[in-house]
Amino acid sequence: MCSVVGYVGKRSCRSFILEGLRRLEYRGYDSAGFACLCPRDSRLLYAKAVGRLENLEKKLKKEPIDGYVGIGHTRWSTHGAVTEHNAHPHFDCNKTISIVHNGIIENCYALKRQLEEAGHVFFSATDTEVIAHQLEVLLLSHVTLKKAIIDLVNKLEGAYAFLVLMENYPDCIVLVRKRSPLCIGIGDDELFIASDPLAFAGNSSKVCFLPDESFAIVKADQIELYDFKGHALPIKVQELTIDWVNQERKGHEHFMLKEIYEQKEVIHATVDFLRQISNEVWQYMGITQETAQSLKSFNMIGCGTSYHAASIGKFFFEKITKIPAYVHLASEFRYMPFFPSENSVYLAVSQSGETADTLEAMRMLQTHHVPTVALTNVASSTMVREADGFLLTQAGYEIAVVSTKAFSAQLTVLYWLAHRLALEKGLINQQQMHMAQEDLLVVAQLLESCMENYRMDITHSVAKEYAQSQNFIFLGRHESYPFAQEAALKLKETAYRYALCYSAGELKHGPLALIDVKTPVFVFSSQDPLIYQKLLGNVQEVKVRGGHVVAFTFEHQKELQLLADRVFIIPDVKPLLGTIAMTGLMQLLVYEIAKELGRPIDKPRNLAKSVTVE
Ligand code: AGP
Repeated sequence: MCSVVGYVGKRSCRSFILEGLRRLEYRGYDSAGFACLCPRDSRLLYAKAVGRLENLEKKLKKEPIDGYVGIGHTRWSTHGAVTEHNAHPHFDCNKTISIVHNGIIENCYALKRQLEEAGHVFFSATDTEVIAHQLEVLLLSHVTLKKAIIDLVNKLEGAYAFLVLMENYPDCIVLVRKRSPLCIGIGDDELFIASDPLAFAGNSSKVCFLPDESFAIVKADQIELYDFKGHALPIKVQELTIDWVNQERKGHEHFMLKEIYEQKEVIHATVDFLRQISNEVWQYMGITQETAQSLKSFNMIGCGTSYHAASIGKFFFEKITKIPAYVHLASEFRYMPFFPSENSVYLAVSQSGETADTLEAMRMLQTHHVPTVALTNVASSTMVREADGFLLTQAGYEIAVVSTKAFSAQLTVLYWLAHRLALEKGLINQQQMHMAQEDLLVVAQLLESCMENYRMDITHSVAKEYAQSQNFIFLGRHESYPFAQEAALKLKETAYRYALCYSAGELKHGPLALIDVKTPVFVFSSQDPLIYQKLLGNVQEVKVRGGHVVAFTFEHQKELQLLADRVFIIPDVKPLLGTIAMTGLMQLLVYEIAKELGRPIDKPRNLAKSVTVE
């Protein structure tokens, strides 16, 4: 998941491209690069830097290259180490062709071998560079750029979105898209190009999303769009109002903390949105009312945090809507034998709406003609455009790489949808539906007050106490097991600590051997009385072996409070809302542990916000 950004027009391309990369840096930040054509003689000029975008900006202050047409890139490496050599843009032998690329060229090794045998010299270890050398060969043998691009794309395998800037075609940029997102913002005699329209929000609201398997040759005042066979395609322009509010941290030290504290208002905004669409929700989802009434099961696919939210959502559908719910890890699901469930719907859960694993799983489902619905936080995302229907969380831009407010927003939608389906099926009445919405607003308040109750403890002592532990065990049962998985993921990706997560009932089947006083055991309780009793037994198993237990427990659960070494008490809430109630507290504790360890927090090492490669 890298970012590509381009500009061609009457203004300085560098300032726009750097701003666009800054906005999309969430997609990857191992290195960054910029190329443009010199306005005087169309020579290719470029600069690259390892690390964050600011390193490139420093370089460009010293070497202020600029022009009216240019391309830029921030990288999350897939092929080739994080070095300046491997930073984009990449070039052909003569450095007259430059490429920035998001995606993976899956047949890069075979192509590279052929090209090296033909005498091409490679400067980098990336898959991307193959594109430049291959295009170099094709341009030597073809009179038209269009024909060369057609032959090029028919040689490349994989998922990719790349931009080409060439000395011999000084007033144009070539855009090529297969699977990975790419769009054009149309201005007045200028074009803005990016992986995500967020890059040019405020500069243009007229957006053309490149169709899958298409390429464009663009100049400041014209767009030629073709499919991979060279057939001209219509330029479909959408009006997209993305109000890029300059995402300030609003006084918080990190975006992650800001977004943790935004969750109460996010849940309110999401409930308000759902209330407004309640009567048209099936149209939004792209299904009929009859289909909703006759649903016999509910399927969800996702990755990472979205998968954990869906796994908690499973309990909502099974306990409230009384239908079986199945949750699939997208990266596994698409390679498994698929047996379409009758009378079911498939919900792709994704904050970004661009995650390749989830997107490709959704596309696989569409080949089986089952109803697909995107639950995302980004209205302009590929998943929203390609699914049969959609639902939107109202979390606002989530800038921190680690997902926080999107998670609670996803739980909010899933809890609401379970009730809305139950209402459609006649299992609950309007009053109960209304109560469910009110319960969500109550739990939003509790999420915030739980954080306030413990903030001082956590910031002044608790975080320090646990920051030195190298290993952690996280336990949950029932709906709090996927919650424990989410908590463990947060600690891994924010604090870089080994957090093993188990369903508490599994501990005695082996992992109990890991219990020692140096390994804190975090237990996330459930309000289900039977599950709570079982969980109590599991905690006993830990305690009698000298384990140290930190319990996220509910007000009435006195036994667990007495048993644990440290407790975080969550007010009693409506059944199944306990995970939302303890979400902020869990995230805040992880945040403070990571801060205590001096981690970068908003952009953890090795990660990126939107994983648009498989
Ligand atoms: C969340 O903290 C992680 N950054 C990651 O697991 C993320 O949830 C996952 O990559 C899925 O992203 P999506 O929700 O945008 O599809």
